[in-house]
Amino acid sequence: MTTANAAKSGSFKIGGDLAVNRLGFGAMRIVGKGVWGEPEDRDEALRTLRRVPELGIDLIDTADSYGPEISERLIREALHPYKGLVIATKGGLLRPAPDQWETCGRPDYLRQQVFISLRRLGVERIDLWQLHRVDPNVPRDEQFSAIAAMQKEGLIRHVGLSEVGVEQITAAQKHFKVATVQNLYNLTKRSSEPVLEHCEKHGIGFIPWFPLAAGNLAKPGSKLDAIAHAHDASPGQIALAWLLQRSPVMLPIPGTGKVKHLEENVAAANITLTDAQFADLNALA
Ligand SMILES: NC(=O)c1ccc[n+]([C@@H]2O[C@H](COP(=O)([O-])OP(=O)(O)OC[C@H]3O[C@@H](n4cnc5c(N)ncnc54)[C@H](OP(=O)(O)O)[C@@H]3O)[C@@H](O)[C@H]2O)c1
Repeated sequence: MTTANAAKSGSFKIGGDLAVNRLGFGAMRIVGKGVWGEPEDRDEALRTLRRVPELGIDLIDTADSYGPEISERLIREALHPYKGLVIATKGGLLRPAPDQWETCGRPDYLRQQVFISLRRLGVERIDLWQLHRVDPNVPRDEQFSAIAAMQKEGLIRHVGLSEVGVEQITAAQKHFKVATVQNLYNLTKRSSEPVLEHCEKHGIGFIPWFPLAAGNLAKPGSKLDAIAHAHDASPGQIALAWLLQRSPVMLPIPGTGKVKHLEENVAAANITLTDAQFADLNALA
């Protein structure tokens, strides 16, 4: 399959005014194992980042906790001043060790992390800042009102949430406009379907993380495998094409630290599934 351009995936306006191509890039995989420390191949990670805009991708998802710090630093090194790029970051998780994540939604901590992300990314305002998790140990209205205050101050342009249900989105909307929701969602994991439907209804961007976890579906002889053969594509590309076709508010952010995989993932924007293939894939949940 030839290399494509993310523009083929169509566009979406985050918060109603920030247009991006729907197929984005997840920058959690450009750091070390366990989402910890420097990447094994730093040059390849930087090459991957520099290739992102060349392929028409203009939405990059990161977080202060990826590395921690390292994903944001590499993005700045490779891409600052981000002409035409939306760098979406997150805060609200502590990193005590590799592969370990703990919530921290204390308002003073969230505020500190926004200031640190601003400085690390080298921007005056964060285009999309997402609360990585709603902290169950801090009253949620305190977390939401701290975020609303930072938006009013102009530190954040649009606000997103991550791993939330419809009720939490509605509660947050009392404080600020929820521009995006980032939940686990892919061909095989669809428990966020009601959230996706809510997002569609209200024009909220839905960012499915772990979009490539096609897992067992990639086995020879499975439905995904057969459809991949029919398109001369990989199962991962079919999984991404299905996401793009599933909803106009879907903004997949496949993650990789390798140029070759990035190019392969973007080429998924070229694939149009037939109605029958789409229905077969829908039935795989
Ligand atoms: N909000 C949250 O709580 C949350 C949680 C997790 C992730 N995220 C975000 O969502 C993004 C996507 O999730 P994810 O990175 O966990 O999962 P993913 O995109 O489904 O899969 C990434 C994994 O697949 C591999 N991969 C990527 N493209 C490939 C290809 N073409 N062929 C073979 N292998 C390929 C990558 O390894 P290589 O590097 O070797 O290519 C990486 O190990 C993250 O980067 C991050 O920005 C958010």
